[in-house]
Amino acid sequence: MTPTSDPAAQTAVDPSADWWRHAVVYQVYPRSFADSDGDGMGDIPGLVSRLDYLADLGVDAIWISPFYSSPLNDGGYDVADYRSIDSRLGSMDDVDRLVAESHARGMRVIMDIVPNHTSSEHPWFQELLASEPGSPAWDRYVVREGRGADRGQPPNNWRSVFHGSGWSQIRTPAGEPTGSWYLHLFDTTQPDLDWDNPEVHAEFRDILRFWFDRGIDGFRIDVAHGLVKEAGLPDFDYPHPDEEKQQAMFEDDIAHAPFWDQDGVHDIYREWRSVADEYDPPRVFCGETWVPNPERLARYQRPDELHTSFNFIYLEAGWNAAAMRRTIDETLANHAAVGAPPTWVLSNHDLVRHRTRMAPVDVSGARDLDRGLRRARAATLFTLSLPGSMYLYQGEELGLPEVVDLPDDARQDPAWHRSGGTDGTRDGCRVPIPWSGDAPPYGFGSDSATWLPQPHDWADLTVTRELGDPASTLEMYRAALRIRRASSALGEGSLLWLDAPGDVVALRRPGRDGTDVVSVINLGTGTVRLPAEWGTDLLVSSSDDVAALSTDDGPPSMVVGGETALWLAATS
Ligand code: GLC
Repeated sequence: MTPTSDPAAQTAVDPSADWWRHAVVYQVYPRSFADSDGDGMGDIPGLVSRLDYLADLGVDAIWISPFYSSPLNDGGYDVADYRSIDSRLGSMDDVDRLVAESHARGMRVIMDIVPNHTSSEHPWFQELLASEPGSPAWDRYVVREGRGADRGQPPNNWRSVFHGSGWSQIRTPAGEPTGSWYLHLFDTTQPDLDWDNPEVHAEFRDILRFWFDRGIDGFRIDVAHGLVKEAGLPDFDYPHPDEEKQQAMFEDDIAHAPFWDQDGVHDIYREWRSVADEYDPPRVFCGETWVPNPERLARYQRPDELHTSFNFIYLEAGWNAAAMRRTIDETLANHAAVGAPPTWVLSNHDLVRHRTRMAPVDVSGARDLDRGLRRARAATLFTLSLPGSMYLYQGEELGLPEVVDLPDDARQDPAWHRSGGTDGTRDGCRVPIPWSGDAPPYGFGSDSATWLPQPHDWADLTVTRELGDPASTLEMYRAALRIRRASSALGEGSLLWLDAPGDVVALRRPGRDGTDVVSVINLGTGTVRLPAEWGTDLLVSSSDDVAALSTDDGPPSMVVGGETALWLAATS
């Protein structure tokens, strides 16, 4: 297949204020996307140089993980200055160019805002450390007296998502411990802000306007469900007393903790929504919301709150027909109740890449990555047919696997270091992506010493290698996005379930122009014949294991191999 794009659709941003209701958004992890200056770390000019690739891929928007000034203790989610760019990643001029050049190619730009915590290098925290206890500078963060006679114990039992206690003792400028402690739900260098303080509210409203005024189209909100803590900061009755099972954000049974998904957090988003609505077109938000069920999720999408939020519940359903269908139903019902479109996602910079996650594991514990890729492609194609918007994570369109054998001394994830090397799941999906060539740095930059080392077996996974190869994962994504954009049935709208045989899940999306799309995923391993009434007009499939076969006594019907998805055009 030759690379093509629809020039009309790509030359200007979709002017509709509702673009986010059906958008395909591509997540860029900027340090790992493209390196323009040969320091082994991706940067904004590198991203600008690759915008044509993204426009050709057919995405409607890009979301870029943080590029603010930061000590990079947590990949930039530790912000030292919300109004400046980290010099290793670029300059304000580069960001202005990024916005202009993206818009010129028809793509919106979404930044990442980190309101739960700042970096400990942020001037506010530095001011706290330099000032007397009880001074106003202390009120911007969650600070409490310690427990015990000498106040030498943390104020409560909350743990850090990155392991260990969620509290650290504040020390005087001379290094003496005080009886006061600050909360950090993440790394010690990420103190939690106190959202009871109006000054924090005012500061973030101002930061939003600062970027909206520069033409940014929206924000993904980091840890959107965590800003408000339960009054009194009560101890939490952890379901897993042992240290190993304390991943406080990604575990379902911890979603009820007194520091997640508190009702008060919604007041903040009402306030933010009114800021976004001051703009023409209105700016948009997408929340990072780890919540226990679709009902709690949909609360964030009430009409005066966030536009969308990540639906991690669907992602967690995994490769399981019943769980997928149930989650889709619950998501649609709960979102419909608040008038919001659902959002779907399968991978991001915090999670094991879905090719590896979905790979079956054999008795020896080895993952079958070929089947993992087959499943990942099928899951992506099927998910792209669901109503609403979809987030893609850089490199998934190439079929990249998780890098599971990074050397210990290369690892950067604070969770790895704080867990004593037992929890290291987040570096393996952040390895710089391969563009071209047969060896590192695969066209990522000019230096093969990339900030996380690339594997030596990625030559077949480069953009150059996959472009134009009809069997490649990249061409499947490009075809699906082209069809999705051109079809009135896909994106926002309704869904009808179809009765399907075996491990098949199938649905029909009604088109406004008389052409529906039937989307089918076969989660089993055996070949399945689909009902003849679904037709044989194949639009795209996730593997070539599909064929229209005639029957003895009726019209032809599609036969679909195991772990395969396809879309059919159907006349309504
Ligand atoms: C979010 C980010 C993650 C970061 C954490 C703390 O979960 O996605 O990368 O480490 O928040 O900011």
